Amino acid sequence: MLNKIALVGGGNIGGVLAQELFQRKLAATVAMVDVKGPDVAKGKCLDIAEGTPIIGSDVKYIAGKDYGVIEGADLVINTAGVPRTVRPDGTYPSREELLATNLQITDAVAGAIRQYCPDAIVVSIANPLDAIVFRLHQKLSPPKHRLMGMAGALDSARYRYFVAQAAGVSVENVEAMVLGGHGDDMVPVRSCCRIAGMPVEKFLDEPTLAAIESRTRKAGGEIVGLIGVSAFWSPAIAALEMVEAIVLDKRKIIASCVLLEGEYGVNGLFVGVPVVLGRNGVERVIEVDLTEAERAAFAKSIAAVKKTTDEVIAAK
Ligand code: LAC
Repeated sequence: MLNKIALVGGGNIGGVLAQELFQRKLAATVAMVDVKGPDVAKGKCLDIAEGTPIIGSDVKYIAGKDYGVIEGADLVINTAGVPRTVRPDGTYPSREELLATNLQITDAVAGAIRQYCPDAIVVSIANPLDAIVFRLHQKLSPPKHRLMGMAGALDSARYRYFVAQAAGVSVENVEAMVLGGHGDDMVPVRSCCRIAGMPVEKFLDEPTLAAIESRTRKAGGEIVGLIGVSAFWSPAIAALEMVEAIVLDKRKIIASCVLLEGEYGVNGLFVGVPVVLGRNGVERVIEVDLTEAERAAFAKSIAAVKKTTDEVIAAK
């Protein structure tokens, strides 16, 4: 158990994270900050705390509109930013189109982390994922192991779910990995997909797999189209997979968005790759042997990440 985990943002994802942190008892104190009024963070935490006698949790909380509540946190989960929302005409923006708004919010978040908990491990969820993590890196320059983004955990879970459904087997039997950026060019790595240790191709044919991989790439948008706003339960649970690996020093291999410094031939970008997560955060980056087609798809995804990252750099 950590002393304190801070949630920046008390929206849909922040709300699920708070519930789960009280349940799972990963920290003695949960902090939540949200600038929205009258006082969303305090209200959400009080609502959960009032249920703690029933679930038997003595986790404490500190919450409010002032960033000071995150002081001394060992780990910060950043969800601050606007989500994708359906427009009146039924269309919705790409994650990349959220950049201008969410950059400003991220700069405030980075300032608060620097002031109140500069040594915290940071797991960021806000979109556009890879670019926002890059911005936190620009502003905080933490050691590589202490800053990461949550995307691969979610995208891989979606891929696993779709494969399990199509193959008619338990989700627990499916292992899979989605790498690259958290955009529509993300790379579901078929050569890493296994059902009970067997290659996925033993169970599903090529057109079925191609359709699943295409659906996986656009799965975030599918949810926006259905509920009118970004997914929140599965992203929160995916972030908790990472947080649990860190807090419990599980050394679990999870696709995470981290700074590449030569790995995969990439330098200076935050990109989703498999890493070992343990008590120090990113313990190790793992380089997957990709097929030629997967390497080409990865290069395309990297180009998309670079484009958005260049916009971050240009934004100063
Ligand atoms: C998604 C958002 C949270 O993929 O990026 O659903």
